[in-house]
Amino acid sequence: MLSLPLRDDARLGALETWHAEEFAAHMDRAREHIRPWVGQRFVTDDVDGARATLARYAEWQAADGARLYGIWHDGRLVGGVMYVSFSADLGSCEIGCWLEPSAEGLGLVTAACRALLDWAFTTRGLARAEWHCRADNDRSAAVAKRLGMTLEGVRRKAWPYQGERHDKELWAVLAEEWQEWNA
Ligand SMILES: CC(C)(COP(=O)(O)OP(=O)(O)OC[C@H]1O[C@@H](n2cnc3c(N)ncnc32)[C@H](O)[C@@H]1OP(=O)(O)O)[C@@H](O)C(=O)NCCC(=O)NCCS
Repeated sequence: MLSLPLRDDARLGALETWHAEEFAAHMDRAREHIRPWVGQRFVTDDVDGARATLARYAEWQAADGARLYGIWHDGRLVGGVMYVSFSADLGSCEIGCWLEPSAEGLGLVTAACRALLDWAFTTRGLARAEWHCRADNDRSAAVAKRLGMTLEGVRRKAWPYQGERHDKELWAVLAEEWQEWNA
């Protein structure tokens, strides 16, 4: 996939090492908004850090593992979605997401995640897709719900952040549920 329209003013596209400067500029707009909620290694400070993230995902993708995609809204990179992990052998993946503040509330991430779920279940034949979020991340849990995921459990104090430990929710949707709703 080089680029997939999400709607008239937004598209999902491969986010690759050649986007490093654009990704770093986006991270400047997103950094403090996403910091409490995403993996700390993802929150970079400069172009080299942004390039390192993109290179890491390129390596994982080459091994049929994790993958990263950007969301462009009115031509500007405003966030993205990823397979945090992807295993054809285990038939399972985990999906993640982020947005800069100006792009929240538009339905972009829900639409982008639907494209990832469809590819995982329909094209790749996976059995299960997971969503992990801090238990107090209401907007993230709302996306999981909107995607039809079920809350399967809470891993207590599994999310360390700035000296405190937070509970982590595990949401998931199964292939047969997805196929039934999208038949
Ligand atoms: C989690 C995060 C990506 C969710 O963003 P979001 O904008 O709430 O999610 P979506 O893009 O799916 O948009 C849904 C919102 O758009 C609205 N919307 C508008 N048109 C819509 C449409 N066609 N379809 C779905 N929702 C639509 C929904 O009502 C909802 O708004 P509301 O919550 O005010 O009711 C965002 O809050 C974020 O980046 N947070 C920080 C990083 C983070 O937490 N990442 C996840 C880690 S687990």
